[in-house]
Amino acid sequence: MKFLIDDANIEKIKKIYEFYAIDGVTTNPSILAKAGKNPYDVLSEIRDFIGDKAELHAQVISLKAETMIKEAYKMTEILGRETFVKIPTIPEGLKAMKKLHAQGFKITATAIYTPMQAYLAAKAGADYVAPYVNRIDNLGANGVESVKLIQNIIENCDFSTKILAASFKNSNQVQELCAFGIGAVTVSPDVIENLIRNASVKEAEQDFIDDFEKLCGQGKTMLDI
Ligand code: G3P
Repeated sequence: MKFLIDDANIEKIKKIYEFYAIDGVTTNPSILAKAGKNPYDVLSEIRDFIGDKAELHAQVISLKAETMIKEAYKMTEILGRETFVKIPTIPEGLKAMKKLHAQGFKITATAIYTPMQAYLAAKAGADYVAPYVNRIDNLGANGVESVKLIQNIIENCDFSTKILAASFKNSNQVQELCAFGIGAVTVSPDVIENLIRNASVKEAEQDFIDDFEKLCGQGKTMLDI
């Protein structure tokens, strides 16, 4: 399962990359708005940092297929042809996906709230479908179960499309999909850090150090004895 960062803040991205094994970065217009700079400058800085091999996902803004396609050309010209163009899964978006897929673009179908949106996007040639786990939960449905259903649809309909689950707000949502095994998840830096934040681990590590120092002396490690 690929593991991506859902953020556009370059300092946060660098910090997460320093500690964790990461496969790329996803953004959306709201995430870019938080960065507060020209979106191409922000996305180019992310691309430069993560390199051509890592995945970068960036979203079109238009609601009309023809303009979405033009945006896809400009975005990939600037950010690299390997960039995943995120397209909202609305009828105009599906029209754009069909055309862009035929022209060899990498496509992430986004704003997915229902399994049948995912089916239609896969059928239109999307490489990834991005269901919004927590936003589905907030509608009174079950985000994790929706993703599992989408995975069944993809497997049973024999699509090569993968799932890029998004919109996580807690560790359990990520853990359940990790255990189930899907193509990818994209997670915000704060939720990533909470995946491993645990007072018991900190306490255990301090006990080990205290015991070692009692034996070998203050500040000693295996390097000093
Ligand atoms: O990138 C799309 C998705 O991650 C949105 O997440 O946190 O706005 O629900 P959120």
